[in-house]
Amino acid sequence: MIALARSRTAKAIAESMIGKSALARQYVGGADAVAAVRTAQSLASRHGIAASLVYLGEYVDTPTLAARNLAAKLEAARLAGAGGIDVHLSVDPTQLGFLFDPDGTERGLRAISSAVRDAAASRPGVHMLMLDMEDAGVTEATIGFHAALARDGFPVGLTLQAYRHRTEADMRQAIEEGAKVRLVKGAFTAGPAIALQTEAEIKANYRKLIGMMLSPEARERGFYPIIATHDTALHDYARRLATNNGWQPGEYEFEMLLGVRTNVAEALARAGETVRLYVPFGRDWWPYAVRRIGENPRNALLLARSAVSRD
Ligand code: FDA
Repeated sequence: MIALARSRTAKAIAESMIGKSALARQYVGGADAVAAVRTAQSLASRHGIAASLVYLGEYVDTPTLAARNLAAKLEAARLAGAGGIDVHLSVDPTQLGFLFDPDGTERGLRAISSAVRDAAASRPGVHMLMLDMEDAGVTEATIGFHAALARDGFPVGLTLQAYRHRTEADMRQAIEEGAKVRLVKGAFTAGPAIALQTEAEIKANYRKLIGMMLSPEARERGFYPIIATHDTALHDYARRLATNNGWQPGEYEFEMLLGVRTNVAEALARAGETVRLYVPFGRDWWPYAVRRIGENPRNALLLARSAVSRD
């Protein structure tokens, strides 16, 4: 899967057929911001599900690519505002050139949060710039960007990873500040010095962190919890806790990836929960989609079909 994701030939062929591949149709919201906003509008009108838009292309190493990514995100914010949809705009600092220009990255983040704030003026809802959390080398800086933007009153949220040892302390701080936090398990390779290693440990820590996020104290602080997992046992746990601790649907939400366990997302929305789907868009979709296949080898049939499917 890794070789396939990195294959330049497979990537080039795939990117040229984004509108025709079954794989792209399942996991990707479209080739550009216009298509992604259309996907978000359709999720909202058909299922009452909100979207978190993300332009694909992380770890860029040239100013040209960073500028392209910034422009795509600004356009998505503008179009989401014009379309009147509740949107989070997910951003990875390395998409804006963090690897070679951290100051320029902060300027880009400020520009995107301003655009999201303008978009929010057209429709009530939870609009914000959501900072994705990348590998451990970017964690401290990402938390710093979040703190600086929040301090200056920008609408911003932070992703924390349940597999990191430091997350309990980061979560405690975020709750104290009444922040908006999206909790994920964690997707990057990380050794035992900084991260839990087994699925059981990670899941147990996720439950513990949900306990903090949905506590009565967090609610009093105005904290906004986002439970981002496809793990139905964790959904059930969060829902029970929310009810027991007086949280109303709309005061917290669930987030999942477009195309993954769609039936689960739709059932949560039908049950009255606030649900958001992470909707990636852009031509650089191949490595992202192949990673999703790797998470569930039963999807290999979809991968095979995508190589030939044109309708
Ligand atoms: P887990 O992998 O245990 O899956 C739970 C269940 O869902 C299992 O039954 C599994 O089979 C099924 N499932 C999972 N993936 C599937 C697939 N592709 N197809 C079919 N079934 C599947 N990570 C990170 O480090 N930084 C980040 O910023 C983010 N951002 C982010 C946003 C959102 C909205 C989500 C949902 C996830 C992320 N992640 C992330 C990724 C996250 O860290 C994690 O790798 C994945 O969500 C997979 O973990 P689950 O919690 O879904 O559990």
